[in-house]
Amino acid sequence: MSKSTTLKVASVERETDDAVTIHLKQPLLRRIQYAAGQYLTLEVDADGGKGCRAYSISSTPGLDKTLSITVKRIAGGQVSNRLVQGLSAGDSLRTLGAHGRFVFSPQAGERRHLVLFAAGSGITPIFSILKSALHFEPGSRVSLVYGNRNTDSVIFRDKLERLQAMFPERLRVLHVLSRPDAPCDHSGRLTRERVVEVLAALPTWDAGRTEFYACGPGGMMEEVTAGLAACGVPASAIHMESFSPPKPAAAPAAIPGAQSATSTRVHLDLHGEPVEFTVAPGQTLLEAALASGLQPPFSCRSGFCTACMCTRLSGEIRMREEHGLSAAEVKQGHALMCIGYPISEELRLRIE
Ligand SMILES: Cc1cc2nc3c(=O)[nH]c(=O)nc-3n(C[C@H](O)[C@H](O)[C@H](O)COP(=O)(O)OP(=O)(O)OC[C@H]3O[C@@H](n4cnc5c(N)ncnc54)[C@H](O)[C@@H]3O)c2cc1C
Ligand code: FES
Repeated sequence: MSKSTTLKVASVERETDDAVTIHLKQPLLRRIQYAAGQYLTLEVDADGGKGCRAYSISSTPGLDKTLSITVKRIAGGQVSNRLVQGLSAGDSLRTLGAHGRFVFSPQAGERRHLVLFAAGSGITPIFSILKSALHFEPGSRVSLVYGNRNTDSVIFRDKLERLQAMFPERLRVLHVLSRPDAPCDHSGRLTRERVVEVLAALPTWDAGRTEFYACGPGGMMEEVTAGLAACGVPASAIHMESFSPPKPAAAPAAIPGAQSATSTRVHLDLHGEPVEFTVAPGQTLLEAALASGLQPPFSCRSGFCTACMCTRLSGEIRMREEHGLSAAEVKQGHALMCIGYPISEELRLRIE
C-alpha cells in the first residue's frame, strides 16, 4: 500500500558503545535523492503494527558512496535498539524516502561562516552539513560546537579529527564535555552562558556572513536559541532540527475549532490508491487512519517532523498552532495528519 523502497545494508560501523552508522546501498533504479541535513523515514514494525521512524542522514550527497544513517540506542526504544544491535550487512530496511527542511545547499562561490551546534546523536545531520560545506564551498569556514558526556560518547570523533587535519584553515571543532575524562575545550553543559562565551571566542574569519545550524535534545536547543538571541543573532540566520518535541503538545480540547460535533468522512489518495476512513470527534486524522488499518507515513506524532504531511484537496482541517509547516506550505494546502482535526463533514486528501 505504501510507496516504500527497500535498501540493502552494505555494512554497519560502530561509532560508540551505543551508536552505529548503517551504510545502505543505493538501488540502481530508485536512488534516494537527498540534501545535506535531511532525514530518512524508515518504515518499521513498531507501535503494535507498522510505524515510521526518522533517522538523519550522516552521509553527504555527491561525496559519500553509500547512503548512511547514524542511530543512537535509547533505553527501552523499540526501533533504535534493533537497529544498533540487531542489524548486519545483507539485511534490508524499508524507507519512504528522504524528508525534512533542515537543509544545507552548498554554493561553490559562497563565502560564509557556518557555526554548527550539536549534542549527542544531533551530530548526525550536522556532520553531513559540515562535510558538504568543507568539500563543496571552498570559500566558507566551519565552526562546530559539539556537546557530549565524555570522550567515549563522541560520535564521529576520529572522522572529525581527520577532517581537521585535512582542512586546518577552515574547520574549528570545540568539544564541550559534561563529564570530561580528558582535557577538552569546555567542561560542563552547553548552557546559554556557554553559548555566549563560545561565540565570543570563535575565530573571526573573514567570511561574508554567518549562519547557524543546531541539532540536539530539546533542552540544549532552548539554550542555544537563548544564547544566540542574547548575542543578537537574527532568527532568520538560525536553522534548527529537533529529534523530539520541544514541549508537551496541547491537548485536543485546547485547540479552538478542533472539536467537531460530528464524524468526518475522509477520502484519501494514499500513494495513488483511493481509500476512505471516518474520523470521530476529537480524533486526529492520523489516529483515525491508523485505527482504520491504513498505513500513512508518520514518525514523531507531534507535528514537528513533517513525515505525515498530506495535501488538502477539499474540506477544512484545523491544526495545532505549533507545527513544523511554513506559512507558504499551509497556504499551498499542506497539513499534518498527526495534529490535524477535520472541521468539515467531508474531506479529500492526498499523500504523495
Ligand atoms: C527529524 C528526526 C530526525 C532524527 N534523527 C535521528 C538520528 O539521526 N539518530 C537517532 O539516533 N535518532 C534520530 N531521531 C530519533 C528517532 O526517530 C527515534 O525517535 C528514536 O530512535 C527512538 O525510537 P525508538 O523506537 O527506539 O523509541 P520508542 O520505542 O519510540 O520510545 C522509547 C522511549 O524513548 C523516548 N524517546 C523516543 N524518541 C526519543 C528521542 N529522540 N530522544 C529521547 N527519547 C526519546 C520515548 O518517549 C519512550 O519513552 C530522529 C527523530 C526525528 C524526528
Ligand atoms: S508524524 Fe511527525 S509531524 Fe506528524
